[in-house]
Amino acid sequence: MKLKSTSAIILIITFFVIVHYSQNKSKDQKKDIAQKVDSVLSLMTLDEKIGQLNQYNDDWQATGPITLDGDKENQILNGKVGSILNCMGAERTKSWQKIAMQSRLKIPLLFGQDVVHGYKTTFPIPLAESCSWDLEAVELSARISATEASASGIHWTFAPMVDIARDPRWGRVMEGAGEDTYLASKIAYARVKGFQGDKPGAINSLMACAKHFAAYGAAIGGRDYNSVDMSDRLLWEIYLPPFKAALDAGVATFMTSFNDINGVPSTANSYLLRDILKEKWGFEGFVVSDWGSVGEMIRHGNVKNEYEAARAAITAGCDMDMESRCYINNLEALVHDGKVPIALIDDAVKRILRKKFEIGLFDDPFRFCNSEREKKELNNPYHPAVARDMARKSIVLLKNENNLLPLSKDIKTIAFIGPLVKELKQNKGFWDVDVPGVDSNFIVSQWEGLKNKVGDKTNLLYAKGCDIEGENKNGFAEAIKIAEQADVIILSIGERRDMSGEAKSRSNLNIPGVQEDLLKELLTTGKPIVVLINTGRPLVFNFTVDNAQAVLYTWWLGSEAGNAIADLLFGDYNPSAKLTMTFPLSVGQIPIYYNHFNTGRPALNDEDRFYRSAYTDLSIYPKFEFGYGLSYTSFQYSELHLSKHKMKHDEKIEVSVTITNTGKYAGEEVVQLYLRDVVGSIARPVKELKDFKKIKLEPGESKTITFTIDSEKLSFYNQKLEWVAEPGEFELIIGASSRDIRLSDHFELVE
Ligand code: GLC
Repeated sequence: MKLKSTSAIILIITFFVIVHYSQNKSKDQKKDIAQKVDSVLSLMTLDEKIGQLNQYNDDWQATGPITLDGDKENQILNGKVGSILNCMGAERTKSWQKIAMQSRLKIPLLFGQDVVHGYKTTFPIPLAESCSWDLEAVELSARISATEASASGIHWTFAPMVDIARDPRWGRVMEGAGEDTYLASKIAYARVKGFQGDKPGAINSLMACAKHFAAYGAAIGGRDYNSVDMSDRLLWEIYLPPFKAALDAGVATFMTSFNDINGVPSTANSYLLRDILKEKWGFEGFVVSDWGSVGEMIRHGNVKNEYEAARAAITAGCDMDMESRCYINNLEALVHDGKVPIALIDDAVKRILRKKFEIGLFDDPFRFCNSEREKKELNNPYHPAVARDMARKSIVLLKNENNLLPLSKDIKTIAFIGPLVKELKQNKGFWDVDVPGVDSNFIVSQWEGLKNKVGDKTNLLYAKGCDIEGENKNGFAEAIKIAEQADVIILSIGERRDMSGEAKSRSNLNIPGVQEDLLKELLTTGKPIVVLINTGRPLVFNFTVDNAQAVLYTWWLGSEAGNAIADLLFGDYNPSAKLTMTFPLSVGQIPIYYNHFNTGRPALNDEDRFYRSAYTDLSIYPKFEFGYGLSYTSFQYSELHLSKHKMKHDEKIEVSVTITNTGKYAGEEVVQLYLRDVVGSIARPVKELKDFKKIKLEPGESKTITFTIDSEKLSFYNQKLEWVAEPGEFELIIGASSRDIRLSDHFELVE
C-alpha cells in the first residue's frame, strides 16, 4: 500500500514539474523570439521595415485586380517585400525565397494562399462542412488541407472565413459557417486548430487568418463589398464572437474586410483593430488588409489619396498592405513628415517578424520547400478518404417521400440526368486551389461515383438534358427517352461553381436556366425522381422540392463528390447533416433567420395575418429552417430532465434527454439545445442555439445525453455593452431543428 502511495506522489510531482517546465519553456521561447525580433529590427533601415509591411501577388494567379510591377525580383532583393500571395509549389516558393536570401538582412518571405477548403484534395465548401455539425471532422478537414499546402511551400492560409451570414444573396455565404453565432464560433475554433495544429511552426501546419474583420456578411442587400450599418450591440452579439473564438484558438493573423461599418472602412477602423482586437483582446499576431483595401478607402471617400490611405490604415492597426502599394509608396514620406510615428511601423514589423521566427523561417527559410515531401503529401491516399467522409457528412437530406432513398443495390436501370452529372472541376466549388501541375482528373465526378458504386450490376443511362444556364431545351427529348427506360431518375442540377463566391451576389436565387423545366418534363414519365442540388448557397427551388420524391442538397463536395453522393444514394451512409442557414421561401423573405426578436406583433402562424410582422402575400415560415435535415431513420426524444429549476449566477443546471433510434437504419442525430430569455433589458431572440450534440444510434438503441447550463449561456450584451446574465425566466428547448421542437421546460435564474 505504502509503495503505491509513494509512486502516486512521484507521478503527481512529475506531472507538475512537466507542466511547469513546458509553461516556462513556452515563456522562454517567447522571450527568446522577442529578443531576436528586437535585434533584427535594430539592424533594419526604414525602407526595409516598410518592405516587411508590403505584400505582392505572385504573377501566376490573381484573386483580385492585379497590377504587374515587373520588378518584383528587384524589390525583393532590396528588402521591399515581406510576403507573396498566390505563389504555390515547393520549387516556385524556393525560387522567390532564394532571392530574398540575397537581400542585405536575408529576412525570409511569407507565402500566403487561400487554402479555404482544401489544397489538392478538395473538401466540401465550408458552408457545406458546417452542416455536418461535426467539429472533429471540420478540424480534420483543415488539418489535411494544411498538411498538403505546407508541403507545397505555403506558410499561411487566408482562412477560416468566420463571417456570420444571414443573407443568401451574398455569394460568400459559401465560405463561412452559416447564420448562427454559437455554431460558427465553435467551427471557427476548430478550423484554426486544424490549420495551425498543436503548435506554431510545425512542418505540417499553416498560420491561419480570421477573416474578414468585421461584419462583412452584413453587407446591405447582400451585395458584396457594400456598406454595413449596425449597432455596436449587434456587432458584439452576433458578428464578433466567431473572431474571438478564432483568437482563443490562437489564430496567427486577422484580415480586414472590404466593407465600411457605419461609414468607417474596416481597414482603417481603429475601434476594431486597436480598441477591440489589439487592446481588449490582446491580439499579438498581425493584421493584413484585404486585397487592395487600403487604397480602396479613397473610393470609400474616407481619405483623399494614397498618402492619407496609408496613414489611416497603419494608424488604425492594419499591419500589412495586400497589393495596394500604398504602404511601400507612402510610409517613408509619412514618417519623415511626422504623420506616422516610427513606433507604429516598428510595432507592425515586430508582429510580422515574430511570426516568421515562430514558424522557423529564420532557422531555415526553405524548410517548407521540400519537393519530395510535397509529392508524398499531395498523393497521400488517406486524404481522399477523409474528404469523402467529410463530404458524406455535409449532404443534407431535404425530402424523402415514401422512403424512396436509399436506393436498392439491385435496382435494374438508373437514368442519371443533368448538366452536372459528368462535371469534374465544378464539384470543387469556389475558392478551390488550382495546384500547379495538377489537373482535375483526380476528381470523382457524380457519374463516376455512381459507376464505382453499382459496377456492372445496374444499367446506368446518361443524358445531360440541358446546360446550367440558357434557354436551350433541345436535350430534353433525349433525357425523356432514357428516363422512360429507367426504374428511377437521378437529376443533378444547380448553379455553376462560380455563381457563389466572391463578387457573386445574386438578386434572385432560382436554379438557373431551364433545369427546373427539365424536371417538369421528367415528371411526366411518372418515374420516381431523386434531385441533387449543387450550389454554394441556399437557393429557392420550391417547384423541385414540392414535386420530386427525394431531394439531397449536395452543395459543392470537392474531389470525392461522386463517391460521397453514391454512398448516400445507396445507404452506405445515412444522411446526418442539418442546415446552418435558413432557406427562404422566396428572395422577398430575406433577411430571414431563426434567432429573431419577437416584436410587439409577432407573426406566430399563417392564419392570423393581421397586425403582425409578416407579408400579406407569403407564409411566415421559411422553406427550410436553421437546423433542418432528415435521416433514413427516425429519432424519438424523451425524458427531458433538469437537475433543478432555479439557479444562481455561480451555479449550473444539468440537462439530460434520451434519444432513441426508432427506425431501421443506424444513424446520427444532431440534438440541439436552444434557450429563450423570456424578459431582458434588451429584447432577446425567440430562441438561440446554446449547445448541441451529434450522436450515433443503432436501430432501437437509446442514449441519454447531457448538457450543462451555466450563466455564460444565459448572458448577452446589454445596452452598455456589458456581458450580463439577468435574473428571470428562461425557456429551454430541445429540438431536432430550430422549428422541430421535441421537448421543452423552463427554469429561473435568481439573484
Ligand atoms: C480576396 C478576398 C480574400 C482573400 C484575398 C486574397 O479579395 O476577399 O478573402 O483572402 O483576396 O486572395
